[in-house]
Amino acid sequence: MSVLLHLFISLLMFPNIAFCSNFTDIFEPKWAPDHIVSQGNHIVLTLDPQSGCGFASKKNYLFGKTSAQIKLVEGDSAGTVTAFYMSSDGANHDELDFEFLGNSSGEPYLVQTNIYINGTGDREQRHSLWFDPSKDFHTYSFFWNRRTIMFLVDDIPIRVFKNKERNGIPYPKSRAMGIHGSLWNADDWATQGGRIKTNWSHAPFLAAFQSFEVDACELSPDIDDASEKCGKQRQFWWDKPEMNKLDRMKKRAFKSVQAKYLLYDYCKDTSRFTEIPKECQYEY
Ligand SMILES: *[C@@H]1O[C@H](CO)[C@@H](O)[C@H](O)[C@H]1NC(C)=O
Ligand SMILES: *[C@@H]1O[C@H](CO)[C@@H](O)[C@H](O)[C@H]1NC(C)=O
Ligand SMILES: *[C@@H]1O[C@H](CO)[C@@H](O)[C@H](O)[C@H]1NC(C)=O
Ligand SMILES: *[C@@H]1O[C@H](CO)[C@@H](O)[C@H](O)[C@H]1NC(C)=O
Repeated sequence: MSVLLHLFISLLMFPNIAFCSNFTDIFEPKWAPDHIVSQGNHIVLTLDPQSGCGFASKKNYLFGKTSAQIKLVEGDSAGTVTAFYMSSDGANHDELDFEFLGNSSGEPYLVQTNIYINGTGDREQRHSLWFDPSKDFHTYSFFWNRRTIMFLVDDIPIRVFKNKERNGIPYPKSRAMGIHGSLWNADDWATQGGRIKTNWSHAPFLAAFQSFEVDACELSPDIDDASEKCGKQRQFWWDKPEMNKLDRMKKRAFKSVQAKYLLYDYCKDTSRFTEIPKECQYEY
């Protein structure tokens, strides 16, 4: 009886939350399926002179937390980009990106993050990391609710974007996004501004993803009022007020990452923007 009641309450509280134990339950290849090898919850993406490859979730999600453990291309990864990102469909799309920019052997990777809202991006930040991301798996996550977006590395926030719609700044909160991963050649821009090209004699390049966690509100594409279903009521853990801000330890870690590892911030790029984007005046 109490077990059933508990189950019933769980179903009421957590409709459509997907936990992934098997890659093929949630994801499917998007391009070059022959370059993707999956086994259970572990997949390897290959880039060679013929092609890169990519996968995507079959469903879209509005709010929640999505994570993957990723181990990036080892050795000479110059010219390659491994991406883990969330994106909605269509022209005026929303998107949250982790892009890992490869480098020559021994030189550090950069992590570029970006946020597209209603089709417009141009919100890049670049961080170096406090570890070599090609040696071991590390966890990269998106946390997203109607008030806050966080990009996390091993659960440490490296970027926070707050909802400032009240100040006329757009915020992505109405379009459900799919979860994507890919590996491709971007040697026209990725490494040292495009000066270092992919050395194809080191191909194939391999990046591995595993332990996907999707704790998010799943939406079918045919539902119009997405926000009605995914968080009107305070039904999800990510809608709890305390989720909108960093606790003291997380805040300290975030400040320390900003001080030590943030190498590029669009908000500081006066050569690029004659007028610094509005959201940049707010301190997170
Ligand atoms: C994953 O799912 C696929 C298709 O549903 C199935 O063939 C495969 O055996 C599953 N693998 C594991 C490790 O559960
Ligand atoms: C999104 O962009 C389109 C033009 O591309 C514009 O017409 C629309 O008002 C924008 N929506 C919001 C909410 O800013
Ligand atoms: C690659 O290494 C060089 C030299 O250490 C560094 O300047 C650059 O930021 C690194 N990352 C990329 C993606 O170019
Ligand atoms: C590419 O890698 C090969 C094998 O390591 C090396 O001999 C060659 O010099 C490299 N090419 C460039 C342009 O660095």
